[in-house]
Amino acid sequence: MTQEEFIPLPYPNTVVEGVVKWKSPSNIALVKYWGKKENQIPANPSISFTLNACATTTKVSYKKLNAKGTDFSFDLFFEGKPKEGFKPKIETFLTRIEEYLPFLKNYHFTIETSNSFPHSSGIASSASAMSALALCFMSLEKELNPDMTADYFKNKASFLARLGSGSACRSIEGTLVQWGKHKNTSGSTNLYGIKYPNKVHPIFKNYHDTILLVDKGQKQVSSTVGHNLMHNHPYAAQRFAQAHKNLDELETVFKEGNLKRFIEIVESEALTLHAMMMTSMPYFILIKPNTLEIINKIWEFRAITKLNICFTLDAGANIHILYPESEKEQVYQFIKDKLVVYCENEQYLCDRIGVGAKQIKVKSEK
Ligand code: DP6
Repeated sequence: MTQEEFIPLPYPNTVVEGVVKWKSPSNIALVKYWGKKENQIPANPSISFTLNACATTTKVSYKKLNAKGTDFSFDLFFEGKPKEGFKPKIETFLTRIEEYLPFLKNYHFTIETSNSFPHSSGIASSASAMSALALCFMSLEKELNPDMTADYFKNKASFLARLGSGSACRSIEGTLVQWGKHKNTSGSTNLYGIKYPNKVHPIFKNYHDTILLVDKGQKQVSSTVGHNLMHNHPYAAQRFAQAHKNLDELETVFKEGNLKRFIEIVESEALTLHAMMMTSMPYFILIKPNTLEIINKIWEFRAITKLNICFTLDAGANIHILYPESEKEQVYQFIKDKLVVYCENEQYLCDRIGVGAKQIKVKSEK
């Protein structure tokens, strides 16, 4: 689909008021998105596991205004309390998506949102938050245009979520989602995430992700600043080419269930992401001493046990530990016995691969 196809024709229906609610998960990238062009177009394709437990639930109540406003009209509640601090981000999001949802200034919205994971856990919530909000607006658009197909609904939800936060476009569906044009993945596009179209071996079913909270502090560098550091980065071209190559290789890895090669690609991607940050100008080190302690312990444990445990990182110090369902007892025991001591307040979150966002029924509050 092209961008223009997401600009709707005049809506057949009129809707005065209502409530919609979605729960949308976070995701963890295996091949990382790091670097973007204008309008949230990624510099390279990426692929992620959709998560299950780490999620944002957002309820949007809407009421038609007597006349179209000049500005967006909305109230925002985070975990039950008004949250002025989040409003500028939402304003920017609404401005970016208005062309595709021309009704936005015709309504007053009350947005109530909450996360399943603890606030300030260092877990990025933009993917789950932006995808949940995009889905709520799509539910309203579906009421305005009931003939909309299910494919259009999910593609456009992902397209809108991308305009809020790039990685958010990978949170609509599960369990493996690819975003970004890659010549060997059919249907792949820079505009939205697609369900991975190739064969996936059953070993990846119920894959686990235990997230070790090494540092719960505020991010030292926002992802937008981080992405921009890939402009004029001395290694950018090589890095973008590497992402394409890793996706090519993953096709066979996913088909055959080759966990040895899966681990090499996933860990290399995580370390490359951080290598890019360390070699940009200005440069950043986002991992902490305990991040390295954990990585070394994982490598030691893997060498001894031959289990298929591996790690990945996002733009911070926390570690995602990935392992197959069949090895969960031994790996979980190892995490509890040997790794949890390196976490801030011994905190960690148990998650696993999930199927994507879910709509939640709400009783109409009329
Ligand atoms: C390191 O999606 O948070 O997690 O598009 O600026 O909102 P924006 O960036 P964001 O970047 C995520 C970067 C990453 C890697 C990934 O998820 O692919």
